[in-house]
Amino acid sequence: MKYDLVIRGGTVASSIGCFRADVGITHGKIAALADRIDAESAEVLKADGKLVLPGVIDVHTHMEHGSGSDVTVDDFENGSKAAAAGGVTTFMDFVIQKEGRSIAESFALRNASASRKSVIDYSFHIALMDVNEEIIAEIPTAVREISSSFKVFMTYRKLGFMLDDDTLLRVMDTVGNCGGMVIVHAENDAMVEYLTEKHLRENKRAPIYHAESRPNLVEAEAVNRVIQFSTVTGCPVFVFHVSSREAMHHVREARSRGLKIQAETNPHYLLLNSDRYEGPEGQNYIMTPPLRSVRDSEELWLAVRTGVLQLLSTDHCPYHKRHKAGGKTDFTNVSPGIPGIELLLPLIYSEGVRKGRISIERMVQVLSAEPARVFGLQPAKGAISIGADADLVLLDPEEQWTVDPQSLFMSSDYSPFEGLTLTGKVEKTLSRGRVVFSHGEILVEPGTGRYLFR
Ligand code: URP
Ligand code: ZN
Repeated sequence: MKYDLVIRGGTVASSIGCFRADVGITHGKIAALADRIDAESAEVLKADGKLVLPGVIDVHTHMEHGSGSDVTVDDFENGSKAAAAGGVTTFMDFVIQKEGRSIAESFALRNASASRKSVIDYSFHIALMDVNEEIIAEIPTAVREISSSFKVFMTYRKLGFMLDDDTLLRVMDTVGNCGGMVIVHAENDAMVEYLTEKHLRENKRAPIYHAESRPNLVEAEAVNRVIQFSTVTGCPVFVFHVSSREAMHHVREARSRGLKIQAETNPHYLLLNSDRYEGPEGQNYIMTPPLRSVRDSEELWLAVRTGVLQLLSTDHCPYHKRHKAGGKTDFTNVSPGIPGIELLLPLIYSEGVRKGRISIERMVQVLSAEPARVFGLQPAKGAISIGADADLVLLDPEEQWTVDPQSLFMSSDYSPFEGLTLTGKVEKTLSRGRVVFSHGEILVEPGTGRYLFR
């Protein structure tokens, strides 16, 4: 057999174990896995001492996303480059359906930008914000032609993002009936508004009051509610960014009853805590839901290990410090969200695998295999197996480096993980057999990524 490329001498990490193997690639797909592959005329990439991982799939990003007055500072070009530099080979962002626009129009608008700019493959969830009879009627076609996952917000009413309970049930009924899935940002908006107004009235405006206005209960109530809605409608639900142990307990209990509930968390909820809001740059950590306690993080790690949570993503929603500055004296005067996509794999490898919190096999599951399974990308994505796309990462497992926002591809002028020393660095990232990123450089032109219909 003739190969275009052979990856020679690495240790392949799969979701069931690690083994020494060469990887043969033909026409962008994995064509062979063997102890020794005869390269003949193929290009050879040396991977001695390196881990060869399936490309990471980040199912939760917000590139060129406008919420309130600011737009996130990574567009599809820069954001996808940052992704590739961090070993991500597929990302999932959002079609934003709002202001009377149809889903098809909203998709065309968003994809016009992403398709010109992305250096890696990508897909969209459809975020429904202005639901009426026409939108409900359009859902079956959207499932067939664009995407089968629909994002809804149970909060952000003042920004016009939130669906009320009646509309949410209607959407879940329709999406469930056509074989789709609803993804939720679960926070009880009325409780958030009540607590926010109370704190502002009492002149409690420092960043810590962002967390105090969105306590664990706020998330747990909304997660529990959407689980009950799933029971009534039969619609499968995926819960984004589970941050609190109480919300996670609802997910665990629902899953133990066999309900169609799946969920994720993000590295910041595993590795950072609410004491950050009391530091000198507390406003830079404002995201929703907020950072929680050490105990919450510990319980979330356990949930990742034991499969209560299926996967990890970033909720990459990057801003500059200047966009966060207003939050220092008024926690409501800030666009929520933090940068993350480039650090997902490095953080989870260094702080998870190397520190013994999860096995490398579980890391491969939560970063690649499970995102592909949950969001319908198997068998092309998510595993190093014959016939799959050659989306691969070569990771040096021993290289130590310190997070410095200046040397990352992500545009933000800060990182919540700045100064953290990590073990393990992405050396190369391949997308469908092409080297996209190598030793600090992006090697392909914008627009080489493809939209993945699911
Ligand atoms: O603070 C966050 N998470 N911003 C991004 C939008 C969202 O809520 O997912
Ligand atoms: Zn969210």
